[in-house]
Formats: sequence, C-alpha cells, structure tokens
Amino acid sequence: MLHLASRKVGSGLLSRIRANVFENVICRKISTSSRKQAVMPAWVIDRYGNNSMLRFTKNSMFPIIYYPNEVMIKVHASSLNPIDISMRNGYGAAALKMKRDPLHIKAAGSEFPLILGRDVSGVVMETGLDVSYFKPGDEVWAAVPPWKQGTLAEFVVASANEVAHKPKALSHSQAAALPYVALTTWSALVNNGGLKKDNCKGKRVLIFGGSGGIGTFAIQLLKAWGAHVTTTCSENAFSFLKDLGVDHVINYKAQSLEKQLKDLETFDFILDNVGGQTEGWALSLLKPWSGATFITLVTPFMINTDRLGIANGIAKSGITLGSKILKHLSQGIHYRWAIFTPSGPTLDKVTELVDEGKIRPVVEQVFSFSEVPKAFLKMEGGHARGKTVIDRSKECL
Ligand SMILES: NC(=O)c1ccc[n+]([C@@H]2O[C@H](COP(=O)([O-])OP(=O)(O)OC[C@H]3O[C@@H](n4cnc5c(N)ncnc54)[C@H](OP(=O)(O)O)[C@@H]3O)[C@@H](O)[C@H]2O)c1
Repeated sequence: MLHLASRKVGSGLLSRIRANVFENVICRKISTSSRKQAVMPAWVIDRYGNNSMLRFTKNSMFPIIYYPNEVMIKVHASSLNPIDISMRNGYGAAALKMKRDPLHIKAAGSEFPLILGRDVSGVVMETGLDVSYFKPGDEVWAAVPPWKQGTLAEFVVASANEVAHKPKALSHSQAAALPYVALTTWSALVNNGGLKKDNCKGKRVLIFGGSGGIGTFAIQLLKAWGAHVTTTCSENAFSFLKDLGVDHVINYKAQSLEKQLKDLETFDFILDNVGGQTEGWALSLLKPWSGATFITLVTPFMINTDRLGIANGIAKSGITLGSKILKHLSQGIHYRWAIFTPSGPTLDKVTELVDEGKIRPVVEQVFSFSEVPKAFLKMEGGHARGKTVIDRSKECL
C-alpha cells in the first residue's frame, strides 16, 4: 500500500493547472540542462507510408517536461509492436490527432516529425516538480501511449503514472520486451476479463495466436495463475510454446481449425490476438451461461475513425460493439474488446511476477539503433516468435 501511496503524482485538471503555473519554472529548469543539447538522435517519420519513411536524425527536438507529473527517461532499449508498423502506415491517425489536439488548434500534419516506438527501458534523467516516486538515476520501464512521442530516440518523456521501476534481474534489452504486451494482456485478461491470481486455477483458456509478443506473455501469466492453456500457432512454434508452459497447442494451418477446436472440451475464456473470421464461430467453443468470456484485441475502432472521422467512427464502433455484446449475452457469453492501457502500477505487478521467476521476456531478435528500419522490416514480415528489441547500447549513432 505504501508503495502505491507513494506513487501519487499530480494528474488530470489539477496537473494541467499546475502545469500552467509551473511551466516557466520547469522549462527554465530543463533548459539549463538541455541548452547545450537542445536536439537528440531519433528515428522519425515526416509522413505516413512504407519503411522508406523512417528517417534518422541527430537533430530531433529534445523533449521537455511540460507537466509536473512527468519523467524524462534516457532510452537504453526499446522494442517494436505491430502498432509501430501500423502507425508508420497512418493507422489511427485521426483518433490519435484528436487525443493530441482535442481543440483542433494545430494544422494537419502537426504530429510530424513523429517518433514511433512504445516500449522503453532506461534511466530517469529529470523529474517534474510533483514526482517523488522516481529520482534521477532510477532504472525504469514503461510503455508510452501512442498519442505521445515514442521511444526510438535518445530521450522520451512519460507521465510518472505510466512508468515503473524496472525488474532488477532484467537487462534493459530484456526489460524493453515486456511493457506494451504485458499492459495490453493485463487490460484484456484482468481489467476486461476479470481474471486474477485467485480465480484462474483450473480455468480452461484458449489463446488464438500464442507465438507473438502478446501470446507469449499471456501464456506465462495464465500459467502462473494456474489456468489450463490451449493456444493456436504454426507447427514450428510448438516446442517453443511448450517450453513456456502451454498445455495444448493446435496447428492453425493444419486441417480445419474450427473442427480441431470443437473436438476439445469447451473453454471458460478466449483471448483472440488474431481477429478476422474466427469470431464468426469461436464463441461456440465457450461454456454458455457460466460467465464465459470472449475478448478480442483486434478491433475496428481506429480503422473506423480513420475512414469515417471521429464522430461517425466512434458511433459505428459503439453500434458494432453494443450489438455484439447483446447478441452474445443472449447466448450466455460475455463479449469484449480490449485495448492497451498504460499503467506504472500494473508494471509493478509484472515486476513481482518477473522477480518470482514466473514471467520472462521472450526476445526473438535484438537490433542496434542504426538498424531500426531493418527491425521494422522484420516485424512487418510477421511470424514473430516473441519480441523484436532495439538496444541503444549496442552502438551510438
Ligand atoms: N487492441 C490493442 O490495444 C492491441 C495491443 C497490442 C496488440 N494488438 C493486436 O494483437 C495482435 C497480436 O499482437 P502481437 O504483439 O502478439 O503480434 P506479433 O508479435 O506480431 O505476433 C503475431 C503472431 O501471431 C501468429 N499468427 C499469425 N496468424 C495467425 C493465426 N491465424 N493463428 C494463430 N497465430 C497466428 C504469428 O506467427 P505465424 O504467422 O508464424 O503463425 C505471430 O507469432 C496484433 O493483431 C496486434 O495488432 C492489439
């Protein structure tokens, strides 16, 4: 409790008011340390498109602590997620612009040059005036939300409540593999799905897509909490996932996946990391009228706002989600969408699981900072077996 209480940092309206009051003070404080170095190395995009949009610059704008609850982190390692590829292509641009600029004050394209990358493991350089939980020199990890400048840079600024102390046993390169997938999985299984340490024992859980970043974290979390876990994956991922503790693997490329799964005992919970047509039949794999839940991470929300604009996109998503919830509820199944939710306190819980040896990062490949475009191409090629990490300490551009 003490731990959480001491996390208290200013947030919301109060924080904004304080930000206005303290802005000059803080900016003056930062500028003293950054005047000599008002720019930093970063990978940026200047417009949306393919991998050739990625541009390395030594002159990216140095980030500023704008609110008193913010923390500046020197990035030691980062990792890539499918959202980095999607954002490079322009996915979510409308909704993210709305979040960055709710009053529509800024011109179109004001997000550029945009720094991608959500995960960070690094060291605290500066803290805002309200932050007491972190101090310069602390080793921390975080997943920075997609409406903020990202982590493929020398420094990043995050809210203190998005940041946590990094597990001591992990190197920066290992730690950077976890935050975004851990927080998304937590949002799906715990916040939306109601699963927790005390109610998972013996529950039959099916994960569509076990071999990527989300799948490898979800398997470990559910096994740590005593669930029986079945997952779908390619055959060449079988032994790798068995090593992570999964109970049953199903090759989604062999004969009918639906038939293979229907031959099994029904499930209490399904996490869908794949999307597509699966939803059309997968809910029948759940035990009806027993609190069984289907959660998907592949939602049309951003696609709708990109295509239809904010108001119509939100309305269409709301109608789609509402009608699916009602339809499945009438058949005794809970249906949910889940999204990544930044949270330092949740990362503290993941740290406990890492320290207890129940969760480990699954790093497939490590790239140096100069190899960021290569890392994007690797991610874009699919077939992940864990995470793609960018280690800044491997070389300095
Ligand atoms: N809603 C959110 O906020 C949120 C947040 C994070 C991620 N996501 C979504 O969740 C999904 C998973 O993310 P991730 O980080 O785990 O991606 P990832 O690391 O790229 O992994 C994707 C994995 O899925 C496997 N796969 C592909 N098609 C499959 C199929 N039909 N059946 C079973 N496995 C299949 C791939 O291996 P093979 O192709 O070799 O089989 C790969 O291992 C992505 O669609 C991502 O966009 C959503």
